[in-house]
Amino acid sequence: MRSPLSSAAHTVALVALVAGSLAVASCSSSSKPTTPPSATYPEPDRAAAATKLLTGPDWYRHAVVYEVNVRSFQDSNGDGLGDLKGLTSRLDDLKSLGVDALWLMPIMPTPFKDSGYDIADYQAINPDYGTLADFDALLVEAHKRSMRVMIDLVLNHTSDQHAWFKDSRSSKTNPHADWYVWSDTPSDPNVGCGTFSAQFGASAWELAKERNQYYFHRFYKQQPDLNYRSPAVVKATLDATRFWLDRGVDGFRCDVIGLLFESATACDMIPETKDYIRQLRAVLDSYPDRAMVAESTNYSSAADYFGDGKDMFHMAFNFAYGYFWGIPFSGTLSSTLEQPFLDSQSKNPLGAQDALVIGSHDVARAYDSAQSIESRWRRAAFVQMTMPGTPYVYYGEELALRPGSTAVVDNRDYARTPMVWTKAAPGYGFTTGTPWIPFGDVPEQTSVEGEKADASSNYAFYKQLLAVRRGRAAFGTGALKVLAVDDPSIVLFTRSSADETYVIAMSMDETDPHTGTAAGAALPGDPQLLFGDATLVRSGADAKITVAAAGMAIFRVK
Ligand code: GLC
Repeated sequence: MRSPLSSAAHTVALVALVAGSLAVASCSSSSKPTTPPSATYPEPDRAAAATKLLTGPDWYRHAVVYEVNVRSFQDSNGDGLGDLKGLTSRLDDLKSLGVDALWLMPIMPTPFKDSGYDIADYQAINPDYGTLADFDALLVEAHKRSMRVMIDLVLNHTSDQHAWFKDSRSSKTNPHADWYVWSDTPSDPNVGCGTFSAQFGASAWELAKERNQYYFHRFYKQQPDLNYRSPAVVKATLDATRFWLDRGVDGFRCDVIGLLFESATACDMIPETKDYIRQLRAVLDSYPDRAMVAESTNYSSAADYFGDGKDMFHMAFNFAYGYFWGIPFSGTLSSTLEQPFLDSQSKNPLGAQDALVIGSHDVARAYDSAQSIESRWRRAAFVQMTMPGTPYVYYGEELALRPGSTAVVDNRDYARTPMVWTKAAPGYGFTTGTPWIPFGDVPEQTSVEGEKADASSNYAFYKQLLAVRRGRAAFGTGALKVLAVDDPSIVLFTRSSADETYVIAMSMDETDPHTGTAAGAALPGDPQLLFGDATLVRSGADAKITVAAAGMAIFRVK
């Protein structure tokens, strides 16, 4: 169901890409009270600027990353499972949306007890998805299109079907005997934590009869934790990393990487884990232009993952926004929304780059988190695309894909349903067979085909927003300045690179329009509206802003 606000889409400025530059045509039919002075700034060749920003070691700071659940993205052989060939055939669709890089959920062989986060072999491809040759072909085709490919690297644990674990559990004397964390009792004074959450079981210790000992697992019991105190494990996992780097992957999303080592008193980012991450970074740094992003398990700050800003992660998810954005959007206070970004600025070392999400394979679909209020997830995405950081779009978010109601592995599957490419039931362009899991709700209303043809669709909204970011360094790496407005419902901030400044305005109030003044904003020039709809007027050093209910806008002021 669409909220009434979606019918206000006619007030959204249409951004058309014309010969590499942005032309803006407002199709608003409402008359504005005053006509503020507007500016037109010289427009550089944005396509060339984008190419420059996305080339070299800092590419990840300017890229738009897209998380793909390969199993649900595109089936190429009618078996109902998405695969690598299918994904490769969709690269042009992703490119045309404005995607620069992919993050693939685990693609390695797996018994699928945790949707692939239970890896049975670090150096092969899940046969459901294809072969190593298919993966190499994906890399070639992505790189041909100047797209990067990052893969999930799950190092904290393996599957209980991994050869290392099968060997390890077989006796106390085999070559892999100490590759996992073993104890004579279902506890260990040196391991001061249980399972990661109740979802993964009540006890973190499971008996292996063959050894008459218990092994430690923070996730499902089929996911034994590796013992990083064994130098052989450190070597084997760094070798696995090199295996993928040698094939040409551009980087990794590192799964629960803070949990590698345990101690009696702490299990998250203890000094030994940080040392390992530094070794991992050194491996990446021995290849050109590779980047890694941490799945932080500290949901209030990822500062710890960056080290000195150069020796640990390139990026880490800022979950203080990402997992919790639903909270500020259910109120009207701009300061609550801004806080996670200000915290990053003050806590993270120089060089740190936030990775920004509004959904993932682990949490509810953005549609759900926004309680089905369209203007809410659109504004959540708007913040994701305009605050400092690298946006990671979870596949289908650009369509406002609805949640499903079938759990094959667990209830996180509600957000892992097949992509909807066409309006044609029953396969919706995803498969000619029977999908491995049913589609989310109302697929006929959320297809790429249908939304592409509708200028007011969520897809069109994403595409326009990504086009505005493109080739503008201010968004990926520019300075953030939050402007204090005398109306607490208005979010107003600037993003500035060396030679350009943008003003971003948004309303937290979904019911009424708001006007406020940012005293002493000292904007460097008059506004040129690039996206959305709002009125911004400079008056001396002050700036007056009027935003519609749930409104949003991007202006250029320099
Ligand atoms: C991460 C993954 C999640 C998985 C867990 C264990 O949190 O995102 O899907 O269940 O790690 O690997």
